[in-house]
Parts: sequence; structure tokens; C-alpha cells
Amino acid sequence: MIESIEKLSNIAHKPSRKIIGLMSGTSLDGLDIALCEVFGNGQSTKINLLQFETIVYDNEFRDEIKTIFSKKNIDLEKLCLLNEWIGKVHAEMINAKLSEWKINNYEIDLIASHGQTIYHAPESLHQNKTYGNGTLQIGDGDQIAVNTGIITISDFRQKHIAAGGEGAPLAAYGDFLLYAQENKSIILLNIGGISNLTYIPSNSSFENVVCTDIGPGNKLMDVWINKHFPEQQFDKDAEFANTGDVHSTLLVSLKSHPFFKISFPKTTGPELFNLEFIENCIQESEVEEISSADVMATLNKFTVDIICHAILHFISGNQDCEILISGGGANNPLLLKGIADYFPSNHVAKLPDSDAKEAILFAVLANETIAGDKKTFGNGSAKTPNVSMGKICLPE
Ligand SMILES: Nc1ncnc2c1ncn2[C@@H]1O[C@H](COP(=O)(O)OP(=O)(O)O)[C@@H](O)[C@H]1O
Ligand SMILES: [Mg+2]
Repeated sequence: MIESIEKLSNIAHKPSRKIIGLMSGTSLDGLDIALCEVFGNGQSTKINLLQFETIVYDNEFRDEIKTIFSKKNIDLEKLCLLNEWIGKVHAEMINAKLSEWKINNYEIDLIASHGQTIYHAPESLHQNKTYGNGTLQIGDGDQIAVNTGIITISDFRQKHIAAGGEGAPLAAYGDFLLYAQENKSIILLNIGGISNLTYIPSNSSFENVVCTDIGPGNKLMDVWINKHFPEQQFDKDAEFANTGDVHSTLLVSLKSHPFFKISFPKTTGPELFNLEFIENCIQESEVEEISSADVMATLNKFTVDIICHAILHFISGNQDCEILISGGGANNPLLLKGIADYFPSNHVAKLPDSDAKEAILFAVLANETIAGDKKTFGNGSAKTPNVSMGKICLPE
């Protein structure tokens, strides 16, 4: 038996595991590294966040990813090379952080690597029944395992697709295990590049949990500011949006995208919601002249409106439902105020450790894969199939 297999078995039987959760989503802002101590498994899972940091991608690295990111036609050799290189760079980032935190690599039980999302292709996007759903995250898990010496669980989304799902959003699992409450319904809203929500009714079992993408989160605002101010990756604290006015015709045009007519749950990505989409809507709404600040204000309002419309679909009239917000968008005060204003009678708040939440959820998924009990996990439906997720990459 090779050492790692024996180690895996020991890790599975420990009362708690040190797991590094990694997240690098469609925002291309950086690599989120969440070092968690995970106790137990299934509905008794408890998390202690020991360390968290986002390592911001430098411009050169981000530009390399952009050469293949959410594009239909790319250089295949580049994809092949970036799959390895991103894995290696992520491993170097982890090694650097562990050394800064004065933690030896051998103290870490597992790495849960999401990978860098580069393309998301649910059937609703390409309409080809023969192929079904597809999604691709790169930054190979073997590169991370070999270069850190830590057993790595990667490619979480593939089994979700194999079992009938769209590979996203996967938040349902961790959200249910960590946040379900007996006497309170909750909406967990994550505003990353794309926004998604998990609705957990009070006293519910997994059968009643719904998890869905909503539409754009920060992505449209990010690409718009970056087009006008190339040195800026996002509209920090909504400073630019606050200088503009919402343009009602453009707002209507943005909201008329057919994606919003598809029933929940559904998934999407920057393949649909990108600069071209904004420019088409500006053209369609026959705006003679619109300032880039007004477009920014309108994109911010659009994001608020589609998010709140989705939330209303699930909680209409339920004032006891709490709305807890995470992801980088939770740092955008105009977005947050817009959402809170929609639901004056509900408790709307930023989740503690809101930037770390998604990385933590992947640590929980890895914990379930290695130490979980499949029976308490998932609800057997195509959208939340009852399967463990991730591939096991061994360092030797
Ligand atoms: N202070 C801030 N003001 C406005 N937006 C912010 C702020 N901080 C982060 N963001 C937004 O959050 C995004 C990153 O969100 P994140 O949850 O990491 O998304 P992803 O999962 O797609 O990587 C940034 O691109 C930016 O748009
Ligand atoms: Mg991010």
C-alpha cells in the first residue's frame, strides 16, 4: 500500500481534519485560501476558520487566463499549458502562505481545490442535447498535490454533472450542513462574478433546499470599469456607480435577457453575461448618449434587481427569512444597500467571513468525500445528487 492511501484512511478516521479550501471564480480577482479545521461530518460538521487570505492575481497572470477565459475559440496548446501552470502557481501560493503562517505542509490533511473556472456550458447555453452539460476548471490537482506534498481533492464539479446536475452551484451541500436552522428560513446569497443563492426553509431536510445561480454578480460591473479604466479591476466601494444615474431604458433592456425567463434552478456564466451583452443592450435601448458612469450605476441597479427578484421568488411574504450575503459583492455598499432596501422587514446582513465562504464550502465538500456518509448528503435529485464530489490526487 502506498503511503498516501494509508494516510487517507487515517485522515478519514480523525475527529477533525485540517483542510485548505481554495476558490478562484469567474471574477479572476485571485486565489482564496481558507485554512479550516473541520470537525465531524454530515449534519454534525463544525468549522473553525484558522486562516484566510485572498492572494490577488497580478496583471500578467490574469491576462494569461483571459486569453482562454469564457471564449469559444482558443489556442488549444495554451489551454494545455495553463492547466499545468495554474496548478503549479496555486501550489506555490499555498506553500508561501503556509510558510508565512508558520505551518508545516505535513500538518495539513487535505487541499480542496476548486480550480480556475474557464468555461461553463450548461445545456441551456449551447442547446445541444447530445452533449448535455459541461464545465471546466483548470489548474491540475496533481500539480498541487506533488508541489505541496498534500493530498488534494480537485474537480468537484464533474461528478455533479455525471450524476445529472449542471456542475453548479455546489453551495447547496455546504450551506445546508453549516447553516440550516430549526426555526428560521435562510437565504444564503453569494455575490461573486456570478451570483447564486441557497434557500433553506426552516426545519427542512435536504429535499426542500434549493440552490440556483441568479445571473451576473460583479462580473458586468468589473468588465465595464476595466474597459474605461484599464488599471481598475472593480468599482471599489461603488465609487464610480455613485457618480452616475440609473438609465431606465437600459435597465429594461438588460433585464429582458432570455436567461431570466428560465425557471429556477439554473446556472450561467460570463459566456452569456459579458461586455458584448452590455454593448448590445446599450445599442438595443437606442440611448443616444450615455456616460460610462450612468452605465455603471445602471449595471449596479440591474444586479440588485435580478438578485432581489430571485430572492422574492423563494421567500415572497416570508418576513422571518434571513438573508445572509457573502462573496466579494458583499463589500459593495451600493449593492448591499439596494438589497437591504428591497426587504425592509427581513434581516439582511453580511455573513461573517463573507470573503472566505466559498473556499470554506469546498473544504466541507472535501471533508464529505473523504470522511462523510453519502446517506446524509444530497437529496438524490438531478440538481443535488446524492454523490461525493472531487477527484483524489496523491502527492507520490
Ligand atoms: N470593496 C469592494 N467594492 C466593490 N466591489 C468589491 C469590493 N471588494 C470586492 N468586490 C467585488 O468582488 C469581486 C470578487 O468577488 P469573489 O467573491 O471573489 O468572486 P469570484 O468567486 O467570482 O472570484 C471583485 O471582482 C469585485 O467586483
Ligand atoms: Mg474571487
